[in-house]
Amino acid sequence: MDILSKIKTLLNTMSLKEKIGQLNQESCDMENMELIKERIRHGQLGSVILATSATSGNDEQRKTPTDIINELQRTALKESPLGIPLLFGRDVIHGHKTVLPIPLALSATFHPELVKTGYRCIAQEAANDGIQWTFAPMLDISRDPRWGRCIEGVGEDPYLGTKMAEVIVKGFQGDNPADKDTLAACAKHYIGYGAMDGGRDYGQAEISDYTLRNIYLRPFQSAIKSGVATVMTAFHELNGTAPSASRYLVHDLLKEELGFDGFVVSDWASIEQLISQGIARDRQQAAELAIKAGVDMDMSCRCYADYLEELVNTGRISMETLHESVTRILYIKYKFGLFEHPYSTHIPINSSRHREIAKSCSDESMVLLKNQNHILPLSPQKRIVAIGPLLYEKRALLGNWVLDGDEEQVSTVANALKKIHPNIILTSSPYLWEDCLPDIRKADAVIVVLGESKKMSGEANSLAHVELPPEQFAYIKRIHALGKPLIGVMCFGRPIAMEEAEPYLEAILYAWHCGTCTGESIASILYGEVNPSGKLPMTFPRCTGQIPIYYNHPASSRHEYFYYTETDNGANTYHDCRSTPLYPFGYGLSYTQFSYRNLSVEPSCLSIKELLAGKTFRISAALQNIGNCTGKEVAQCYLHARASSMARPLRELKGFVKKELAPLEEQQITFQLGYKELAFYNAQSKWVVEPGLFDLYVGTDCYASNALVISVKP
Ligand code: BGC
Repeated sequence: MDILSKIKTLLNTMSLKEKIGQLNQESCDMENMELIKERIRHGQLGSVILATSATSGNDEQRKTPTDIINELQRTALKESPLGIPLLFGRDVIHGHKTVLPIPLALSATFHPELVKTGYRCIAQEAANDGIQWTFAPMLDISRDPRWGRCIEGVGEDPYLGTKMAEVIVKGFQGDNPADKDTLAACAKHYIGYGAMDGGRDYGQAEISDYTLRNIYLRPFQSAIKSGVATVMTAFHELNGTAPSASRYLVHDLLKEELGFDGFVVSDWASIEQLISQGIARDRQQAAELAIKAGVDMDMSCRCYADYLEELVNTGRISMETLHESVTRILYIKYKFGLFEHPYSTHIPINSSRHREIAKSCSDESMVLLKNQNHILPLSPQKRIVAIGPLLYEKRALLGNWVLDGDEEQVSTVANALKKIHPNIILTSSPYLWEDCLPDIRKADAVIVVLGESKKMSGEANSLAHVELPPEQFAYIKRIHALGKPLIGVMCFGRPIAMEEAEPYLEAILYAWHCGTCTGESIASILYGEVNPSGKLPMTFPRCTGQIPIYYNHPASSRHEYFYYTETDNGANTYHDCRSTPLYPFGYGLSYTQFSYRNLSVEPSCLSIKELLAGKTFRISAALQNIGNCTGKEVAQCYLHARASSMARPLRELKGFVKKELAPLEEQQITFQLGYKELAFYNAQSKWVVEPGLFDLYVGTDCYASNALVISVKP
């Protein structure tokens, strides 16, 4: 029997209460365990969230309680009337026992296949603990580093976002979702949550349909195409409503237009919060609005559990609407094999392989922002002192949203440096550097490890100032005054604004919060065992006041290219700040150099009909390593429509490829641009390609200057 027939048969045997039960998700801890078991016995629970507080990324959580999971599952299977398995969900965001870099840093790898392998590993670890569903990937495009949650996302770019969405979903869900080592993924937070005013969490956003579709929707479309099992609605207020109450966003756009066939879950109490948002009068109306919008499962606030029965009995909600939601939830339970293997699995894990993959991920996530006088990589002959507030830190390096990660597996930057270079001088305490003044005076260079704790980013952790924290700025100034070259290692979640601090640092390695292997990757890069290859997934502003600043903005009516050029005539965007960012999107240095030559395109003109028939522009160039060590380059291809029915971005990423090249090695790189790459949603929300001229740029970041023109005929 196929899944839908099985569900139909099951639905015929379910009582109204049991149907509503499938739509109810609650958390369970020791205190409410008996109550939860009682609900399970009566078929009043469809899913358990393995979190004990509303902001589990910030609060200490107990490690995944596998014994409790199996016990509750046994209750569901053996003691509830129909024995429908529960679905256990947890925030496995960028790691389980092995922790990968924060998602924003993973985007900086520009290496989707590696990211997919990383997520396969953590899915296996989590499945072994009994987790079946993860609330990831977070696909909220964000142009605002003030927003603490930008670290959980894919960055500012929709194209990079679509690539990351695809591989994270496939990494979690595997080739066959019914396998034992998969997790059902959840694309969140639908939609536009990254665009809130001022980066204020739980705030509000106004996004036109044009921008919503062309920027914010794209990674979600990609996740749906990749078969994502679930989608979570966002907390914020959007265009005067909230996603959890919007039939247009959930039912019409997500389910009908995009064809999403999994189920939609609310965010933690986002249904009940419709009351605080002034969108619902009371919990009953909140439940009614949400279910009518198409939100299938209620996370943690029991609005469905308390009111759906009455809403159905009084005819305010049709049985058809209820069946639709129950069907979607049961569909995912069948699809992910819960009826076959409901308990925690026991797949042998090769932990050292997982660690190696995590190390590759952190190696490729880190971005070398500055390397004056080629001070890096450090030669072992140099006398180096390492110092700084994060030198002995472990927990911060794991980053926010780590619930099960093992801190013991993390080596501090100090230990990792010592392991690679035993003669390095480490200060005995991270801040009291007076102790080692004599050493600093004799040093050739000083490594200073700066950063922020995991609690400075993530949910409800926004900042009004994203500059280097003042005490850390004062600190580097004091060391700088000793006249030694400083190498800044920045362990932050979010992009920070470093215009003032940057001149004090001879080199800057942006190391993010890169998970289990952060320390090792920093040491490997500083000493040249690994050549840095990360590229920025988000623009780094000069100062907070420049935010939002992003590379794919349309041309302005006067200050023509403000992200791209400065003027000397006072016509810059601000009187008190330059127009350009400090570091642009796609930027990142290597210990070697690359050259791009012989850019060409074939053909240079295509008609819309030909594009629709699948013809593509084939762009190629020769990429050469012109330095003297092997390195990886992310070659990037950008597009600009010169004139369109809508103002289009000055540059839009349309392809990238990461290549490793030995010294003097040359490789041909190619990009294919077809209908999909040239199309956009127009004013009528239609997916169209418009005729005209397009500029193409290929190079090392969004400032790529190798250009070509192509044309599209009607
Ligand atoms: C967050 C979600 C998370 C959920 C469950 C909410 O506070 O916004 O991203 O998945 O909690 O922990």
